Amino acid sequence: MKNTLIIEGGNPLNGQVRVSGAKNAALVLVVASILADGETILDNVPRISDMEYLLRILNDIGVKTRWQDDNSLLICPPDGDLKTRTSYELAKRLRASNLLLGAMLGRQGEAVVSLPGGCDIGSRPMDLHIKGVQALGADVKLEHGYIYAYAKNPGGNRVYLDFPSVGATENIIMMAVRTPGQSVIENAAKEPEIVDLANFLNSMGARIRGAGTDIIKIEGVEELQAGRYAIIPDRIEAGTYMIAAAISGGEILVENVIPTHLHPIVAKLQETGTIVEENDRGIMVRGNGRVKPVDIKTLPYPGFPTDMQSQMMALLSTAQGSSVIVENVFENRFQSVDELKRMGASIKVEGHTAVVEGVNRLHGAKVRATDLRAGAALVLAALAADGCTEIEEAGHIFRGYENIEVKLTSLGAKLR
Ligand code: EPZ
Repeated sequence: MKNTLIIEGGNPLNGQVRVSGAKNAALVLVVASILADGETILDNVPRISDMEYLLRILNDIGVKTRWQDDNSLLICPPDGDLKTRTSYELAKRLRASNLLLGAMLGRQGEAVVSLPGGCDIGSRPMDLHIKGVQALGADVKLEHGYIYAYAKNPGGNRVYLDFPSVGATENIIMMAVRTPGQSVIENAAKEPEIVDLANFLNSMGARIRGAGTDIIKIEGVEELQAGRYAIIPDRIEAGTYMIAAAISGGEILVENVIPTHLHPIVAKLQETGTIVEENDRGIMVRGNGRVKPVDIKTLPYPGFPTDMQSQMMALLSTAQGSSVIVENVFENRFQSVDELKRMGASIKVEGHTAVVEGVNRLHGAKVRATDLRAGAALVLAALAADGCTEIEEAGHIFRGYENIEVKLTSLGAKLR
């Protein structure tokens, strides 16, 4: 089946790998480009299926986009209004299409966005997004699975986020930048991708202060001027390749990283006994025999990232002892457990907690990728497992990892 990744495990991965642009920055920056007049060029955009899908949605509402070269993207919104409604068919498959809510309200005071269907890691509600845009003056109706938002007289306001939601913070910023007056987001998300969004918008003339802290202040401006901007590297992709070195017992130099973005991942990997050293070319990671067990609690940034939880679970499945993993961000993000158990892992889940009893060796099996990061965990487990692993529905993995099969093969992995 074309959608199946087959990996022959058991040999160490060695060499160097260059990290691509961050998926979760690229998606929001491409959407934010509709807030500017003129042609935006974004550099370091990863060629991943989530991005291709988002571009189809933007083309569908009237935004012209064109790849300039491998990773530079030209985005050209029309002078007039965009079509307000994204088609459900297109939008249901990409959660990030919900970011059009804030951008469309900021651009033309109206947005119709499909309520995202549930996905494999949780119900993905939008109550905080809606609370935010309502505070800035939008009337919101939920009908037939769509969010209808209309802001006749938008005005800056103060919004408190009950949870530091990344998407809600991004939607409120994108509406506020072109809403008259001052807006303040309290308990805002502090992820590096939020900082990248703020830097991008400020480079176009927006006035955002405090991104990266839990209080973000935005002075609305009339218009934004399009320009050129390079996206930050993907800290989750970097972390995934770092674990590939640890779990396969190899040595990998992960290039093109921003070290501060990786601190929680570096700290926990070092606690497992893995050698991790920062140098002027990137982060060098060397496996050091069977890893020691460690406990993990996922938290909003700068806590340990939930997007690395499944990958850590794969690594800790081979540890010399038992580890406790608590998933505090999503209510249902242990999809990788059942598949890892088919490979011989010993894991017990109680609610938000998984107890991982390390085993000596995993063994190859037929498994299924249920979501992007659970799929990445299966790739990591397959690299270390005895024998051959067939990962079905591998399309999930290509959503967020540019050229993963090329990058892994260049490190010595045996896959097809
Ligand atoms: C972003 O999703 C990322 N996606 C996710 O990455 C990441 O896991 C997540 O942030 C947390 O870091 C993109 O940036 C495209 P949230 P987002 O709103 O914005 C609850 C990946 O693998 N919540 O911070 O949807 C929600 O249910 C993906 O690359 C509400 O209750 O995440 C969840 O439990 C997966 N109400 C928690 O907050 C709301 O209105 C965190 O969600 C919004 C969210």
